Formats: sequence, C-alpha cells, structure tokens
Amino acid sequence: MERPDFRKKIAIVGVGTVKRFGELFDYELSDMIIEAYLEALSDARNLEPKDIDAAWFGWAIPANVGGGGSGAVLSEILNIIPKPVTRVENFCATGADALRNACFAVMSGWYDVVLAVGAEKMRDVDARDALLHALVRHGHPLWGKGFLVPSIFSVHATVYFNKFGATKEDLANVAVKNHRNGARNPRAHFQRAVDKGRVLSAPIVSWPLGLYDCCPVTDGAAAAIITRADLAKKFTDTPVYLSGMGIATDFVAGIFTHPKRDFTSFPATTNAANEAYRMARIDASQVDFAEVHDCFTITELLDIEDLGFCGKGDAPRFVKEGEANIGGKIAINPSGGLKSFGHPIGATGIRQVFEAVHQLRGDVEPKYGKSGRQVPDAEIGLCHNLGGTGSIASVLILER
Ligand code: COA
Repeated sequence: MERPDFRKKIAIVGVGTVKRFGELFDYELSDMIIEAYLEALSDARNLEPKDIDAAWFGWAIPANVGGGGSGAVLSEILNIIPKPVTRVENFCATGADALRNACFAVMSGWYDVVLAVGAEKMRDVDARDALLHALVRHGHPLWGKGFLVPSIFSVHATVYFNKFGATKEDLANVAVKNHRNGARNPRAHFQRAVDKGRVLSAPIVSWPLGLYDCCPVTDGAAAAIITRADLAKKFTDTPVYLSGMGIATDFVAGIFTHPKRDFTSFPATTNAANEAYRMARIDASQVDFAEVHDCFTITELLDIEDLGFCGKGDAPRFVKEGEANIGGKIAINPSGGLKSFGHPIGATGIRQVFEAVHQLRGDVEPKYGKSGRQVPDAEIGLCHNLGGTGSIASVLILER
C-alpha cells in the first residue's frame, strides 16, 4: 500500500538533556526532567509552556522511585496540568517510542506542538538490583530467572565468534572508539578514553564481555519539542525533520529457546529499519551517522550489520578500519553511545535524538563536544534502540 509522504512534515525545534548523565544522587527524577525540559524550551524560540498541546513520557521503571507510573507524574512536575500526558513503556525503546508517538500525534493534525520527555532513575538502587528487578518483573517465569543482561548478550558474542571468527579484540575496538568519542562529550557519564590493553585486561562480567564491553548504569533525562514543519520556522532557524520511524517486535519469552533465533542478528532491528527507511524513502547507504544501541560492544557489531551498513560478519572490519569513526564512512555513536552515556532506559532514545539534532545543525562544537566530535556535512542521521534483549527495536531517521 502506498503510504503518505511524511518527509519534511514533522520538525524538532527544541532539544535538551540533563547537564551531564551519571550517578545523579543529588537529583530527584523531577530535577532531571525539569533540567532537560527547560533546556528544550529555551532551545526553541518564542515557545512558552502554554504552547505545548500534549506530552509523551518515556519512563520504563517507575518502581525505582516508587509511586505510580502515570503520565500525570510528568504533568505535575512540569506544571502543565491539565494537558494530556501519555506514559510510554517499551523496554529499551521506551524513549524513542515516546517520541515516535508524539510525532504521530502531530502527523494526525490534532496537535500543533507536543513534547517528548524520557527519564530514568537507575542509581538510587544498587546497579545490579535495578536491572535484575526489571528482568524478574518482565521476564518469563522460568527462562527469565538467573540471567542478567550481560549474560544474555555474552551468548550472542560467543555464537558470533564461532560463526565469523571474531575475537575479544574486535569487541575492544568498539569500546575504544566509543569511549574516544565520549571523552570529547561534556554530557557523557564517562569522559575518559581507554586503550585496547585496558579494555582487554578488565575484569570479566560474563565472558567474553568485560567491564568495558558493558554500558554503565546511569541516571539521566532528555526532552524534545516537536511541531508541524510549516510552524517550525516560528520556533527555530534550524529545524531538523523526523522523516522515518519504525518499531518492530520479536519473541520475548523464547529468547534462548525459539528455533528461529540464531544469535548473530536481531531481526527486530532489521524490520524496524526497513519500516523507517521506507518511510524516509532512503536506504542505509544514505545515512551519514548513527546513534546505535551499544548496550554491549557485541550489540553494536550486530546493530551495524542489522541496520544494513555492511554485510553479515563484516562489522569487526568496518570498525577496525575506521569506517565507523567520525569522518569515516558512517560515524557510529559520535556521542560516545551508551558505552559513555550509560542507559537510563526512558531517556536514551531521546538523548540520541538530542545528539542527532545537534549533529544535523552542525553546532556540536564547542558547546556539546571538543574538537573532532562534529560529523562533517551530516545530512541524514539515524537513531536505534534494541530492547528486551532483541524483542523490540526502534529506528528513527532525522534529516537536516
Ligand atoms: N567505562 C569506564 N569505567 C567504568 C565503566 C565504563 N564503561 N563501567 C564501570 N566503570 C567503572 C566505574 O567508574 C567504577 O569505578 P570506581 O570504582 O573507580 O568508581 C567501577 O567501574 C565499577 O562501576 P559500577 O558502576 O560500580 O559498576 P558495577 O561494578 O556495579 O557493575 C556492570 C558493572 C558492568 C556489571 C554494570 O555497569 C552493568 O550491569 N552494566 C550493564 C547494564 C545493562 O545491562 N543495561 C541494560 C542494557 S540493555
């Protein structure tokens, strides 16, 4: 079926995040949200809170802060009562899906200006407890027990090693690249470059994944303001257009048992990407940079292949030869990725959009990055999340 052409119809006119992702023990959930929201508001010109018609709130684990998980929580924090707020929870695609639904609401023609906010408090509980709790709550009653996320992704790494002859060094190249980018990003949780020796000698979390193959556990929040393209120039001289969006699902309970799962790709990523490419009327070769879900180094290798940036088994070479570097063929995770930012689940997808918007505006340096972090002449950026260890993926495509 021929779908309507939405290219350059939906614009992002303001973006914000917390000043720095990290262990934000002196921030409540509300403090993080307000900081991100106020930056997004001031990033847009002539925009008042009263102009916001509705909001979508990506917040995956309300249990970490207690209380209920309604959109009304955001409405009260931002003092936008009685505006409608819908809370979205969709594993690691939570933030991206909140933004996607906000865009659909504008596309429907009903709302003019909407807000997408993503936030997660992960560190006020023990790092391991936070995710273990979520897994136990969401997981299969039998197969979900006893697994933390690193151990699930480590199985993908060993199967990938076996099938394609990749090694721990190939994983280390991803960590070195992303921490190099993160070291130049003043908003990242970890702003330290690491060398390959350090990555390879780090303590093992779940073989072959060591400490630097894992993203940290982090607090953070991000916000984006979305409007119709014909209104955008009122709010900014540099609108960025949301031209493609895709979400795809896969098995949840059958992660280790479903006969179709081969552990060397995530079909949800490819399916979400295909929907987004179709909507944006582009193919993978036209993407200039991508913020991909590098929750673990092995995940980034699979993402690069599943998004169509190179062939199966070729991602280790793609990264090793610098094609994923800023200035390479397709810059992968120019922000430093989840490896440097951690993964505050509700925030991540919108945090990636913050990065993509600034890359496309061409204003990353010096405010959002030290020299060398701007992707040169970027026209098209892609943001990708993979959640529920493969059961959900989202892809957003943004254009200058
Ligand atoms: N880069 C650099 N240093 C890192 C790091 C990284 N990526 N990750 C952790 N560290 C450092 C910390 O700064 C800390 O150093 P310090 O003791 O000098 O302060 C130390 O390593 C331990 O970090 P901590 O945050 O206490 O982690 P932990 O030991 O409790 O847990 C992991 C480490 C890897 C097990 C935990 O971060 C984890 O589970 N990560 C995966 C999260 C996840 O699954 N997310 C969902 C993905 S879909």
